[in-house]
Amino acid sequence: MIISLTGFMGVGKSTLARLLAGSLCCRVIDLDRLVEKEQGKSVAEIFQTYGENYFRKLEEEALKRIISENSERLLIISLGGGTLISENNQKIIKEYTNCIYLRASVNLLTERLASHRGKRPALDSIDDNSLELEVSNLLQKRLRGYENTAKLIIDVDEKSVRSILNEIIAGLDSFSEV
Ligand code: S3P
Repeated sequence: MIISLTGFMGVGKSTLARLLAGSLCCRVIDLDRLVEKEQGKSVAEIFQTYGENYFRKLEEEALKRIISENSERLLIISLGGGTLISENNQKIIKEYTNCIYLRASVNLLTERLASHRGKRPALDSIDDNSLELEVSNLLQKRLRGYENTAKLIIDVDEKSVRSILNEIIAGLDSFSEV
């Protein structure tokens, strides 16, 4: 069974994926980190040098490969915040994984992203005053992709990492053996 975690940048996908894999004693793959390792460049460098479309191609290829190589195992995948922009990726994730959408308010996301400026190339050109509006616009565009693909939606505002993890674990019962 493959479990994928989706949600906007800064929601905590990578952290929760790692903790979930620890609880379930299985492997975890962070899609951004895998692309970085394969390219020998950070996501920011790939965006800067080759542009976002090129990154999206690498992201989609890596995703397909992970899924085809791991269909028999229990695996957690942490997706990038923009992975589900692609309808093709939505289809793949929906068909071959049990997807969890970590849902956060614009307020929480803006707060977290404001304290991590420089690490998210998709938001780097946005000045601090416009960050909230940009997060809101981007989230609006991506919401349907997250919601339509996920089998489980978990609201994360005002919850500790531990209680989010417990909610995820409690929700695993409803998952199918994909
Ligand atoms: C992106 C999110 C990032 C990374 C890239 C683009 C996006 O992943 O894939 O910087 O467009 O939302 P995280 O959500 O893990 O930060």
